[in-house]
Amino acid sequence: MVPRWVFPVTFALIFVGAILITVVCLVAKVGFRTSDSEHEGTAWKKGALYQIYPRSLFDAKFDMEGTGDLQGITAKADYLYDLGVKTLWISPFFTSPMVDFGYDISNFVDVDPIFGSLEDFDELLKTMHSKDIKVVLDFVPNHSSDEHEWFQRSLKREEPFTDYYVWADPKGFNDSGDPIPPNNWLSVFRGSAWTWQEERKQFYYHQFHPKQPDLNFRNSLVQEEIKNVFKFWLDRGVDGFRVDALKHLFEVEDLSLDEPVDEEADVEDNLQYSYLKHPYTSDQPETFEVVRDWRKMMDTYPDKLMMVEIYNDDIQEVMKYYGNDTDPLADFPFNFQLIDKLQNRSDVTGTRLKNIIDEWVDNLPDGKWPNWVLGNHDQNRVASRLGADLVDALNMLTLLLPGTPITYYGEEIGMQDADISWEDTKDPWGCNFGRERYQEHSRDPCRTPMQWDATANAGFSKGPSTWLPVNDNYKTLNVKAQTEARESHLKVYKTLARLRQESSFAKGKLAFPVVTDEVLAFIRYLEDEPTYLIVLNLSENDVVVDLDHHANLELPPEASVITRSASDKSEENSPGSKVSLSALMLVRGEGLVLQLPFVEEIE
Ligand code: GLC
Repeated sequence: MVPRWVFPVTFALIFVGAILITVVCLVAKVGFRTSDSEHEGTAWKKGALYQIYPRSLFDAKFDMEGTGDLQGITAKADYLYDLGVKTLWISPFFTSPMVDFGYDISNFVDVDPIFGSLEDFDELLKTMHSKDIKVVLDFVPNHSSDEHEWFQRSLKREEPFTDYYVWADPKGFNDSGDPIPPNNWLSVFRGSAWTWQEERKQFYYHQFHPKQPDLNFRNSLVQEEIKNVFKFWLDRGVDGFRVDALKHLFEVEDLSLDEPVDEEADVEDNLQYSYLKHPYTSDQPETFEVVRDWRKMMDTYPDKLMMVEIYNDDIQEVMKYYGNDTDPLADFPFNFQLIDKLQNRSDVTGTRLKNIIDEWVDNLPDGKWPNWVLGNHDQNRVASRLGADLVDALNMLTLLLPGTPITYYGEEIGMQDADISWEDTKDPWGCNFGRERYQEHSRDPCRTPMQWDATANAGFSKGPSTWLPVNDNYKTLNVKAQTEARESHLKVYKTLARLRQESSFAKGKLAFPVVTDEVLAFIRYLEDEPTYLIVLNLSENDVVVDLDHHANLELPPEASVITRSASDKSEENSPGSKVSLSALMLVRGEGLVLQLPFVEEIE
């Protein structure tokens, strides 16, 4: 017989248990944070990471080529320091024939003359370090240039280089006697991923351009060579790497396997990469063993960053690259959700942004650090892809969420894609699609020279021309104009970078009091520190929002404006003024950063 007290006590315990679980879930959801010590130790967590496309930042050498260089980056050290960025990632500047603008490397341990010399690099590093800015290099392990000595010797079957690349015999010969590639694999840049070499009478595999042959990572000598390249730069003092195209590192061993057509993608062009699914050429299990090995090697140096480029719709697959506490891999795979899931203006809603944030945070392995990417040298610029009205609001989102914000050069002033004619098109991806279709794929529009001022070539180069045309809008959209304006994208960005240093943002918790299609509001808070409320109007209209009405927690009646989108010229919202949270006026696409007087209970 069960005593009478058992049932009420059991129910009470279940009830209390349920409440506890709910509270824990809530806290976990809104309050993910790293410990203070973790934050202190790691430079790249302390502020924005800024990507420099070296051809396009600043041409200091004035050598008639109109191309940016390493001295140009060093010359802009004060600008980068004032911007408040803490880490630079520099796209490849190594020796290269430049068919893929530096991602085709013929010497991994030297600087291409177009960019300068190793001495210029040492000077750059010294200057940035003296300003407490870390320097991370782009690292391209998947392939080299076909002009690399390794490939040239592999072609001749010279030992030990014979198997440094992925070589294969033809599947057969067609009626005209031409060799047939071993399988149907496609290059990311379009067309077969196999190119025939008469000299060796074999095909070689290239995931990208034919002048970018894939290295054979099944060969342990190749693995050693690549580790030595990492060590070369680490010994020179660099602070880490952005690992390029990592998911392509391995292919299955059985080269007779064709990849299946991706019926869902609905692509007609059977030479286009997305025509096929890629089970045999991407994210192979062996990749993780190599990353683990790199991690171990990098951990013999203090505090080195490894971030990896992984595009994959399946977020679980992306998360695997973080590893976990007992098996640490990359510090982070880039979070491309804000690119992949936001293709145009109408995609940007509060609800969608919240889902994107939740998806990353909820899937993040324990103790790992998020990151937020809005753009890079392979994507259309934010102002063109999503809307010029959203530039400041989206910078507020990425700089003020927990995690590392990643800013592509020029996004701090809201640079836009340039119109590049077919004649001026340089990107091999664009060129492969021909005059009719190049604009669908060319990455040139987002790679144009940085717009410094309204003088010739936007102050980027004193040469007669520039490697890609400067965007026509440079006379009004430039750093100088935005420095002189009372409010501008640049000034908003600098304020955000400064705020990002405060404990409430650097270490604080996160809550979302209002999420609707129109508005996303989030709070950053930490005991004994100021509480901030960020409100983003994602709609395409000016709105008056009653936050109280929508809020899922009690908000104070008023707050003070810290900063706002530069497009808002109203007196009411000017920085320093008090605004009512029950009638908050926001222009289209506007973001407002407010400080709350106090908030009793957020959780
Ligand atoms: C990466 C780079 C891209 C390059 C490719 C081949 O995806 O971001 O710019 O073309 O790898 O190296």
